Amino acid sequence: MSEYVEIFEMGPRDGLQNEKRVIPLAEKIALVDCLSGAGFKRIEVASFVSPKWVPQMADSADVLAGITRADGVSYAALTPNMRGFEAAQAARADEVAIFASASEGFSRANINATIEESFARFVPVVEAARTAGIPVRGYISCVTDCPYDGTVAPGAVAQVAEKLLALGCYEISLGDTIGQGRPETIAAMLEAVLEVVPAAQVAGHYHDTAGRALDNIAVSLEAGLRVFDAAVGGLGGCPYAPGAAGNAATEAVEGFLRKQGYETGLDATVIAKAAAMARAMRGEAVA
Ligand code: HMG
Ligand code: MG
Repeated sequence: MSEYVEIFEMGPRDGLQNEKRVIPLAEKIALVDCLSGAGFKRIEVASFVSPKWVPQMADSADVLAGITRADGVSYAALTPNMRGFEAAQAARADEVAIFASASEGFSRANINATIEESFARFVPVVEAARTAGIPVRGYISCVTDCPYDGTVAPGAVAQVAEKLLALGCYEISLGDTIGQGRPETIAAMLEAVLEVVPAAQVAGHYHDTAGRALDNIAVSLEAGLRVFDAAVGGLGGCPYAPGAAGNAATEAVEGFLRKQGYETGLDATVIAKAAAMARAMRGEAVA
């Protein structure tokens, strides 16, 4: 039997958060409901951040309330602080995610905190999640390049990864936020991270700005990673990362993995349908 590689679907969150057009709630729910039949184990559908910072995610509680939950699917939400965590818990998110940066410039721009201050916010979130039995994932942004600080040292990523793991994150997702990572820089970064976090707890989250996401997934597979984040239709980008284009497209990643002989457990027909829906939802991205 071929080896399983998981795609964690990001479309409804990372995919849509950067869209300029206010996407109607019903369209978001329809996208998630379609994705729920594709075979994903995890779908990120919500983000409990400040609506002033990311207006598109303001209806996250309504999305979680409106979707038809499929058995065996974990519906995930971003939670930058306690306020976000409490909202995610009330909306019955199955898991939450805290998000840090490996670079100070992006940390400040994205969550208005230094890296150290961001960890002070995460501690109570992880403690409350542990008490409630809610799994916490940890993201690291700018794992090779930062739009504000330039090149990011692999050691800086490893340091943040080690701290997120020690805090209690069950998995660390490594974000090439602006899609400037190349196989060489991704491999060097992974070498440092895998010294402090086992490969089984590391995921690759690669944006495709420079068209290298699949190459970066290939080197990550060689390094032992078996989880990749992707968004149907290649939607996405972060409003606080100028120039960041979409996530790796789920349909492309799925096809690539299948060709490499991996099992993804995904239904390509359903994914194609969701990708078409996602593309139709795309407005003009925020600068
Ligand atoms: P702040 O301004 O420093 O904090 O924002 P604050 O505590 O002063 O709050 C400001 C306002 O937001 C207040 O409202 C708070 O009540 C409210 P006001 O009094 O002005 O009316 N507020 C909230 N409202 C709803 N939910 C909350 C919440 N917290 C405070 N949870 C904060 C700090 C973290 C809130 C802000 O910077 C923020 O929301 N940032 C989020 C930015 C974001 O969502 N970026 C995109 C996601 S990360 C990403 O895409 C990268 C990733 O994909 C990986 C990769 O690709 O690299 C994960
Ligand atoms: Mg992202």
